[in-house]
Parts: sequence; C-alpha cells; structure tokens
Amino acid sequence: MTEPSTPRVARTRDELRAARAELAGQTAVVMTMGALHEGHATLIRQAREEADHVVVTIFLNPLQFGPREDLSKYPRTFDDDLAICEREGADLVFAPTPDVVYPDGDPGVRISAGPLGDVLEGQSRPGHFDGMLTVVAKLMHLTGGDAFYFGQKDAQQLLLIRRMVRDVDFPAQVVSVPTVREADGLAMSSRNTYLTDSDREVALSLSQALSAGAAAAAEGPSSVRRAARAVLVQEPLVLVDYLVLVHPTTLEDVPEWYRGEALLAVAGRVGTTRLIDNTPVVIGPGGGRRDVFSQTLDPVP
Ligand code: PAJ
Repeated sequence: MTEPSTPRVARTRDELRAARAELAGQTAVVMTMGALHEGHATLIRQAREEADHVVVTIFLNPLQFGPREDLSKYPRTFDDDLAICEREGADLVFAPTPDVVYPDGDPGVRISAGPLGDVLEGQSRPGHFDGMLTVVAKLMHLTGGDAFYFGQKDAQQLLLIRRMVRDVDFPAQVVSVPTVREADGLAMSSRNTYLTDSDREVALSLSQALSAGAAAAAEGPSSVRRAARAVLVQEPLVLVDYLVLVHPTTLEDVPEWYRGEALLAVAGRVGTTRLIDNTPVVIGPGGGRRDVFSQTLDPVP
C-alpha cells in the first residue's frame, strides 16, 4: 500500500483537463457540495475500491438553491474536505468557482427533471432538481468519469440522475451507496451542523419513524405508514413536510395490495433546519428494510 498523498487540486477547466489526462484507466467520480462527512467519505472509499482512480468534485451549486434557502450559510470547510479526500485516497479534487462552471452566468438551457422533479422534495423546492441535474450533467462531462457514485440518502436525486442517464443516454454508470448514519440512527448530512443539541434529539424521530415503518413491512403498506406516523406524532417539534411510501421509480404512493420494493421517505423541519431521510423497504412476507434497491434504472443496453 502506498501512503496517501495530497490529491491534486484543479480549480479551472484547463487544470482539470491536464490532471485528468494523467489518469489512465477506469475513473470513478464522487460529486459533493463540500462540508464532507463520513457519508461522503464512504462514497469515496467505495469508489476507491472499485475503480483505478477517484475524482472528487467540491462545488456548492447555486443553481440548485432557492432564493430562501441556505446557500449563503451552507458550511464551507475546504481544508477539512481536502484532508478527508486525502485520507480516502482520492487522486484529484475539482473545486471550481461558479464562474468556472457557469462562465456565461446562469445557463439558459437546463436539464429538466420532468414530472418526477415536481413531487416530494421538488414540491417544497421548485427548480431544485433542474439545477441539480444541470450541474450533475456538466460535471459528468467535465470530469469524463466512467462511474458516478451517489448516496441513497438523497433518494429522489439518485432516481432522477438514473432517469437522466437512461432517458438521454449518458455514457455513465451510476452506483448507489447506502445511507451512512450516526450511531443513534440520524442520517449524516452537512446540514446536521445547523442542529442544536435539543434539535438533534428531536431530529432522531425521523430515522426512528423509518425504522418503525420498516419493521411493519411484512403487514403491508397501511401498516408501514401507520407505524411510521405513530412515531412522528409523538414529536410535535418536527414539522413534517411529507411521510410517504412510494414506488421506487415512479414515486407514486403504493396501493394496499402492493408487494415488493418501495421507498419510505420523510422530510421535516426541526427548528430552522429542513432534514430528509428514507429507507428502501420490501413490502410483504419476509420483507423489511434494505440498504439500496435491487431494481435500478440501468442505461438501456
Ligand atoms: P451533497 O449533499 O454534498 O452530497 C454529495 C453526495 O453524498 C450525494 O450523492 C449524497 O447522496 C451523498 N450523501 C450525503 N449524505 C450521505 C449519507 N449520510 N450517506 C450516504 N451518502 C450520502 O447531493 C449533493 O451534494 C448535490 O446535489 C450534488 C449531487 C453534488 C450536485 O450538486
């Protein structure tokens, strides 16, 4: 094993091109907005194991933040991020400024997420998924990666990226990585740094609701929803935005007769912080919680 060395940092398109030219073989890419935590580190680690080279992108994409969202207060921790990239063996970090990614200002042409971008997170965050897909498409092109690693934590984002790759034939492989949690179950998130100690206690009810729902999976959809809701009603300090049990690729509520893979997803506000969490579940006999979906939208062969 070679000692980890500081990854090369590219700030411009020219620097990225020059550094990329030196990485021969299969290249995996992990895209992030910085403020890296153990969830991001896990993506980098898995990419490291499965590819010859790993490129990490660190870019706080203004296009996916609404006017009332937390772009200006989003944590910026570049030196710590770089240390995590080094520890996990990333070869190259692409950390551009907005004018490098959007040299002509906000792009007029964008990727439209379509109807799947209007529900759940998209309902609370109009335009968010178009902005997200636009930057993901650009970073796929700019990095020229072969495989792209995304977390199940952002289930709707992951689905939309898979949908984009399939619908418009991106030559990219998408890999899903299970949600990384704190020991008490709280899903890791860069936004957890906004939580006070008491917020954090309150926020635990989100992951606890998912666990309770998943534990009822053998009994069918209404039992899952009831069990999850029962946890959330015990914690009035979580302002629930949605709690749904939906089909993994259509995001439509699953009917009572449904058996098979489904997504149990929750979003809510704790204090001023909006948090999301989810778990894949299998509904029906022998069902329960899963890490990632076995059925995914692979590119058309
Ligand atoms: P960000 O929130 O920084 O997340 C970067 C990647 O890390 C995403 O794929 C996300 O799903 C994954 N991730 C975050 N928390 C995780 C956790 N607890 N367990 C597993 N994976 C986790 O998602 C974005 O940035 C942006 O939308 C981006 C895709 C970079 C486009 O701007």
